Amino acid sequence: MVVLQLLSFWFLILGPVVAIWPQPSSISTGDTPLFINRDIKVTYNGNPILFDPDYESPKIDSKNVVQGGVRRALGTIFNHGLYPWMFHPRNETRSFQPRLSDRSFLKILEITQTGIDNPSTFKPLAGEVDESYELSIEIDGKASISAVSSTGILRALETFTQLFYTYSSYRDYYTPYAPVSIKDAPKFPHRGLMLDTSRSYYSVKSILRTIDGCAASKLNVLHWHITDAQSWPLEIPALPELSAKGAYNPNMVYTPEDVRMVQEYGIVRGVQVVLEVDQPGHISSLAWSHPELLTAYDYQPYTDFCAEPPCGSLRLNDSAVERLLDKMMDDLLPRLQPFSAYFHNGGDEIKASNSAVDPSVGTNDTAVVSKLLQSYTDKSSARVRKAGMTPIVWEEIPVDWNVTLDADMVVHSWLGSDSVSKITNKGYKVIDANYNYLYLPCGLGQWVTFSPGSSYQNGEPFTDWCSPFKSWERVYSYNPTAGLTNEQAEKVIGSEATIWSEYTDELTLDGLAWPRTSVLGEILWTGPLNEDGQSGSRNQTSAAPRINELRERLVLRGIQAARLQMTYCTEGGNCVQPLGA
Ligand SMILES: *[C@@H]1O[C@H](CO)[C@@H](O)[C@H](O)[C@H]1NC(C)=O
Ligand SMILES: *[C@@H]1O[C@H](CO)[C@@H](O)[C@H](O)[C@H]1NC(C)=O
Ligand SMILES: *[C@@H]1O[C@H](CO)[C@@H](O)[C@H](O)[C@H]1NC(C)=O
Ligand SMILES: *[C@@H]1O[C@H](CO)[C@@H](O)[C@H](O)[C@H]1NC(C)=O
Ligand SMILES: *[C@@H]1O[C@H](CO)[C@@H](O)[C@H](O)[C@H]1NC(C)=O
Repeated sequence: MVVLQLLSFWFLILGPVVAIWPQPSSISTGDTPLFINRDIKVTYNGNPILFDPDYESPKIDSKNVVQGGVRRALGTIFNHGLYPWMFHPRNETRSFQPRLSDRSFLKILEITQTGIDNPSTFKPLAGEVDESYELSIEIDGKASISAVSSTGILRALETFTQLFYTYSSYRDYYTPYAPVSIKDAPKFPHRGLMLDTSRSYYSVKSILRTIDGCAASKLNVLHWHITDAQSWPLEIPALPELSAKGAYNPNMVYTPEDVRMVQEYGIVRGVQVVLEVDQPGHISSLAWSHPELLTAYDYQPYTDFCAEPPCGSLRLNDSAVERLLDKMMDDLLPRLQPFSAYFHNGGDEIKASNSAVDPSVGTNDTAVVSKLLQSYTDKSSARVRKAGMTPIVWEEIPVDWNVTLDADMVVHSWLGSDSVSKITNKGYKVIDANYNYLYLPCGLGQWVTFSPGSSYQNGEPFTDWCSPFKSWERVYSYNPTAGLTNEQAEKVIGSEATIWSEYTDELTLDGLAWPRTSVLGEILWTGPLNEDGQSGSRNQTSAAPRINELRERLVLRGIQAARLQMTYCTEGGNCVQPLGA
């Protein structure tokens, strides 16, 4: 009896785990090994695709997108593949592999696109692009991918790479799972990661690497929170003083070419880059170039005027502010529009106390401030419309200030499920970034220092406001539509994990973002778990080997993703919390 239980337990953990992450909606696999080598023939709608490892075309059209996807997928299999010894018992680190004698090869990968891409395929509003795909591998050596859009083909190719392993010789490559049949489509259309590049600067290279991580996990949005109160790294040629004076360092700027390159890099990987210029708060880095436009700049004690130093916001009733924003957005937005359907106007954490000391206002009366914010928001939305994009705002604008928005605008929530409920009740679409689950730097401790005396004693043990750390299990328990009616839930277009950068920079980025953002990716692609922690065959325990394997694959692809479990667990040791404990 004991032996039987032990054996079945052993089998549960070590039976071949088809470690696709995120888990496809439907998948069946066999146990016939098929090898793959560089002679594989790939066709796209009947035409051959040549596997040129150096080929990279900046042209954004279906053929180039698919060709780039194939190049990266084969490159991943042959150059960054996984020899998965750590997912097998210690005494079987080679014996699990298929025999090399009499092996069969995959001869052809036939890719068929059943629909025709249009401009919105490459910069969709949420839901505008069909990301579904079908993928099969037959034991006779033929693989097929079929999808409506080129984006669906990209998603299929990521799945394809995850079916293959590298042999212990590091010279052979195989899938143990033929025949394979997969049908797959995402649950939520907006699956993102937000990166704050104002509080700390990130090299373009590290941003591109972050897009790689998104693509590998079938996330489709990088929300680039490019400016904030602490530095202004965004170069605006019409207003060169903004970054010349407001960037931390003359080298720490994003030129128009940088921004375009990041956007294009994203598009050909099926990841839309959405920029945010946060305003009218969180913008006091303009004090370095335009102090006359700000109120409450660096006022003390900062806790009276803002959530974090330096305080300051744009004056709410000053035509000079409008003129600067017109000039800024006339320069910036037309450059973003070819690559992005949305622009994020910010709008979080606005405090009435700033208006009391605003020479153009002079009161903290919320009725007055909220009227001014209505007019401010109308103007900032109009700038985005003029450029042909759809505005996004943070939740405070409609929830705290009762500002009325156009029905198609998207509200970015962060304060939790009550907020999502309020916003959807007002009829707006929501992107949720619930800080209780999705604020990834939480739990690292305080970055402000405490003065000796009462502040020091009250500060103990110096934990941060959103502590504790959001473990991968916590992220995996997240449900974007928890507690909502069906009607409300339909308004939730998706979610974003969030990296604020008070004490994160490109050196710690990968380990914070990955693989926890990929964990959110499965919640949004495959769907959330039920309250008891199970959904279909998925739960923490069954997900662990798959997310551990994705982590290894991300590392091999150049992303320093964090370790979630020790090798003792991945090789089959018992790492399950006992019932009732
Ligand atoms: C490895 O150890 C397990 C458990 O003791 C045993 O069942 C299995 O046969 C061993 N495998 C090899 C290749 O020795
Ligand atoms: C805004 O400024 C105008 C002109 O400077 C002034 O007349 C008006 O009272 C101000 N409005 C508010 C709400 O402060
Ligand atoms: C406005 O200022 C008064 C006086 O400082 C203060 O009592 C009140 O709480 C403030 N109201 C808001 C909404 O900040
Ligand atoms: C917004 O509306 C709510 C509900 O009507 C009200 O309680 C709140 O005071 C209003 N807030 C502002 C800033 O007007
Ligand atoms: C997790 O899911 C698997 C597959 O559905 C199931 O066998 C297992 O009992 C579940 N619970 C745990 C703790 O593994």
